[in-house]
Amino acid sequence: MKIELIISPKAVDHKISTMHKEMDNARTSDSSRTTITELMIPSYANFGGKIHGGILLSLMDKVAYATASKHSGAYCVTVSVDTVDFLQPVEVGELVSLMGSINYVGNSSMVVGIKVISENVKSGLVKHTNTCYFTMVAKGDDDKPTMVPKLILENATDVRRFVEAIYRRKFKQNYETNLKEIKSNWDKQDVASLLKDQRCVSRMKE
Ligand SMILES: CC(C)(COP(=O)(O)OP(=O)(O)OC[C@H]1O[C@@H](n2cnc3c(N)ncnc32)[C@H](O)[C@@H]1OP(=O)(O)O)[C@@H](O)C(=O)NCCC(=O)NCCS
Repeated sequence: MKIELIISPKAVDHKISTMHKEMDNARTSDSSRTTITELMIPSYANFGGKIHGGILLSLMDKVAYATASKHSGAYCVTVSVDTVDFLQPVEVGELVSLMGSINYVGNSSMVVGIKVISENVKSGLVKHTNTCYFTMVAKGDDDKPTMVPKLILENATDVRRFVEAIYRRKFKQNYETNLKEIKSNWDKQDVASLLKDQRCVSRMKE
């Protein structure tokens, strides 16, 4: 059977003009790249004299918001934070810089990669304290998720970051599916053998 697809010239024009609009709208990661630098003052410290993790998280959230709202031109909310590992402590008196850039865009979501460095101004020593990924969603005036501009990938680094974000998303979906499966197939026998060599005391009745 032969199927003929008839496309009206009007529909083609519409498709092309939509594609052009999307291209006009597309933005590079350079256009929204944001850096926040803040001096670590004594009131930010914990009892051990190091900077509270929560202070750094709050700064990460700010740079993620600034970067995502610049790319989308919209109000954004934080949806998810991937792996915040504090690799090195930050001291009072150090200058912390947080660099945010758009690594990936979906429809309404954007992944902002954030690199955090801490600098001792006297010694000039610079530490890379962590890198993490914030997923932000742009919202319209109706408070619903709204479409964000496409991301122009200008070089191999942009492509690598975009692809890594796709994989991170897939790994997270797999992780959630596996965890759901483990929870629904909860087996006391498995748990007993799993806990055997762990540093815990189980008072669960057999
Ligand atoms: C995030 C939120 C907007 C999602 O709304 P929703 O009606 O479920 O909308 P959708 O399911 O269409 O999801 C919107 C986008 O968020 C993404 N998303 C939703 N949950 C997510 C998660 N846990 N991790 C990563 N992305 C997620 C979806 O994949 C979708 O992306 P896309 O548009 O690029 O395809 C809504 O849950 C919300 O407002 N949450 C509160 C956010 C908040 O208050 N943050 C803290 C203060 S800023």
